[in-house]
Amino acid sequence: MEDLKSKINLDNLPQHIAIIMDGNGRWAKKHGQPRVFGHRNGVKAVRETTEGAAELGVKYVTLYAFSTENWGRPKAEVNALMTLLVQTIRKEVATMNKNGIRLKAIGDLEALPSKSYKTLMEGIESTKDNTRMTLVLALNYSAKWEIMRAVRGIAQEAVDGKIKPGDIDEATFDDALSTKGIPHPELMIRTSGEQRISNFLLWQIAYAELAFLPIYWPEFTREHLYQAIIDYQNRERRFGKTSEQIEGDKS
Ligand code: FPP
Repeated sequence: MEDLKSKINLDNLPQHIAIIMDGNGRWAKKHGQPRVFGHRNGVKAVRETTEGAAELGVKYVTLYAFSTENWGRPKAEVNALMTLLVQTIRKEVATMNKNGIRLKAIGDLEALPSKSYKTLMEGIESTKDNTRMTLVLALNYSAKWEIMRAVRGIAQEAVDGKIKPGDIDEATFDDALSTKGIPHPELMIRTSGEQRISNFLLWQIAYAELAFLPIYWPEFTREHLYQAIIDYQNRERRFGKTSEQIEGDKS
């Protein structure tokens, strides 16, 4: 593992890594266990990822923990996920404070069950002064919801005469999203072998490198994180330019 870690160029880390944690249910099934068993083991992978990323010096990790669409799952599973969230935040806040990790959340948070919302807010409040790394939980999140909300907010400002339509630019839009102030992810990882974005950070991943891993989320370890970063560093990020221009920019 140290060998893999030593291959990472610490001067070229993605500042922000976004992760679609997929495959908990299939992993549980593979082990002949109920889906909740998969989610519980998914928390171990969350810890592993958070610690691994913070140790390297990554500044932001965003985890897709609950999508707006996830409300459609069986009630018992939704309840189990919400309980797991509350338990995990309560249990991990002290460790987050010890390790300098600030908790944030994006999504339609006020629509969460009141206990989950309250615990989440307490976790955010208690870790708000930490600066080493920010862990962003996407909860009751949907990128289309977020974009619609931003559009409505900006349109209202235009109607109120606070902004002229011609002055609306990318920065205006960035500031209207729930990720305001957070740099866009340079790397997005999805586990479970599915190759979809599933309504996650659609605006913010315009230039992100995508990594689709053929493992289930509970199997995800630091080594997978290291390897994804190494692969990211070996790719050439061109932002629409030519290879020659990128080489020129470096000199
Ligand atoms: C996807 O697997 C996983 C989720 C929808 C929930 C992720 C939640 C956790 C890892 C636990 C709680 C997280 C935190 C941050 C405390 P799936 O159920 O869609 O798996 P499947 O596609 O195999 O059915």
